Amino acid sequence: MIKAVRGTRDLLPPETALWNFVEAAVRDVFRAYNFHEIRTPIFEETQLFARSVGEETDIVAKEMFTWDDGERFEDKKLLEAWSKENEDRVFFQEGMPFLTSIKPLGIQRQIWRKATNSVEFVCFRPTISSESIAALVKARTVARSQYSQEFGHHPIRLRLVVPDKVVSNSPWVKTEDVEIEGFPGNYFSSSQSLTLRPENTAGVVRAYIEHRLWDRGLNKLYYVGPQFRRERPQKGRYRQFYQIGAEIIGPPSAGSESPARDAEILELLATLLDRLGVENWMLQLNSVGCPNDRAAYNEALRKALEPVVGQMCADCQRRAVTNPLRVFDCKVPADQPIIETLPRISQFLDEPCRRHFEQVQEILKSVGVEFQLNDRLVRGLDYYSRTAFEFTHGALGAQNAILGGGRYDGLSESLGGPSAPGIGFAIGEDRLVLALQKSADAVQRKPDVYIAPLGTGMDREAARLARELRRHDIVVDLGDETFRLKKSFEIASKLGARFILIVGENEVKAGAFALKNLESGEQVSVPRPELPRKILAG
Ligand code: HAM
Repeated sequence: MIKAVRGTRDLLPPETALWNFVEAAVRDVFRAYNFHEIRTPIFEETQLFARSVGEETDIVAKEMFTWDDGERFEDKKLLEAWSKENEDRVFFQEGMPFLTSIKPLGIQRQIWRKATNSVEFVCFRPTISSESIAALVKARTVARSQYSQEFGHHPIRLRLVVPDKVVSNSPWVKTEDVEIEGFPGNYFSSSQSLTLRPENTAGVVRAYIEHRLWDRGLNKLYYVGPQFRRERPQKGRYRQFYQIGAEIIGPPSAGSESPARDAEILELLATLLDRLGVENWMLQLNSVGCPNDRAAYNEALRKALEPVVGQMCADCQRRAVTNPLRVFDCKVPADQPIIETLPRISQFLDEPCRRHFEQVQEILKSVGVEFQLNDRLVRGLDYYSRTAFEFTHGALGAQNAILGGGRYDGLSESLGGPSAPGIGFAIGEDRLVLALQKSADAVQRKPDVYIAPLGTGMDREAARLARELRRHDIVVDLGDETFRLKKSFEIASKLGARFILIVGENEVKAGAFALKNLESGEQVSVPRPELPRKILAG
């Protein structure tokens, strides 16, 4: 039996009702803050993540799903180059109806040219193979029988054009039927390393640069979608997980650098969690400073690590050399007492960073969002600068970060874009759903009415009635005329329907139907036109 891959899972009803509830609520909140949705591809060039999230982070170093998207043959390029050299004799061009009829033979691009006392059918392939030769021969047979008028009695010659490097490596040089021609030039696009997105900020900033979104001033964007990390699966940690995230990004002149943006994001999150009924969350807040601060801080960290790093795990020994800040990502229990003694970034903030951080806190206090300062919090991604935060929740156990985020003021430049300070967050939707104190039942709309057709021919009548009722935004489920009434009652109560509506021959004739309230047990006969009102009234 084939099962879902480790670290992935199916989300099934009724749990999906909770996911829909969450997503509907967040879309409402985003609307109130004037955020708009962005959807970026779920895979990107590997370089994007290496350059933004950082080579030394756990995410990039260990957790990405990366593959090599092998080189591709560009037959169109070869056709164009070859046709240019043979211009005078080419007489059928790509796109003519005659040529498309040959495509089903597996020949995508082809051309005809005149030769002395003959016509030549030419096609372009990445390799010389018995399949492409067989396809050519077959194409000639088709052409001969269907297009004799165009060709008259001229013989049709076959020509296979391939990149010349292919000819030199191939045992096929000449066949009786087919002339093989090597054409100089490179017609292979180079292979690309691609990665399933482990997070969405890099994709958003890539899109910001690609589409010159700075022209729109401040961009307030949100996304909802799957992300992929090859982590060890456990409760609240999956290899395919879902994030609900948002980013505010724009040119400095649009106010993107202002502490007011940080506070707006954090206040939005507090509102969102409260609106969803998530209780007991805690906002952990820190500033990781700017590149200047970090250079001094890294130096101090290196010094402090020197005498102790020998006692730490292998990862930390590597981090201490390449990117000492990442030591704070270590989860090894034995290393924690050492990490506790290390200097903290808060002691290294320069004046503008310190002031920025203070202003964020002042606004948060004025809007009444509680927070806890945590100067150990450095976040596991390299692009952060200044404000960094996480919201934690007790019910989640070891994976207690329900969401994380921060500022990334230099990210756009490091990806080749203009200065575009930004701040954002991503909520782990899987964890958010775990933290909800709601059951799927509480958010799921049950059927208002279950229609029980009774006897042959009644499915038809039931379908008509269901159609009428659903137009009134009534949730209707349908039985089947082959069911006994007892079975219909059992199904209706299992579904949690409020009413059962019985559709038998007598009811149809009378134009009035037996409607039974499954909670109170009351049963009444209701004329057809009054059914919607009666059901909606409850
Ligand atoms: P992150 O802290 O790597 O930040 O992920 C954000 C949230 O995604 C985490 O707090 C957690 O709830 C959830 N999450 C991460 N990994 C997993 C997993 N394997 N299984 C389940 N949930 C997981 C980012 O991704 C940044 N892009 C956030 C951001 C946006 N910063 C600025 N803008």
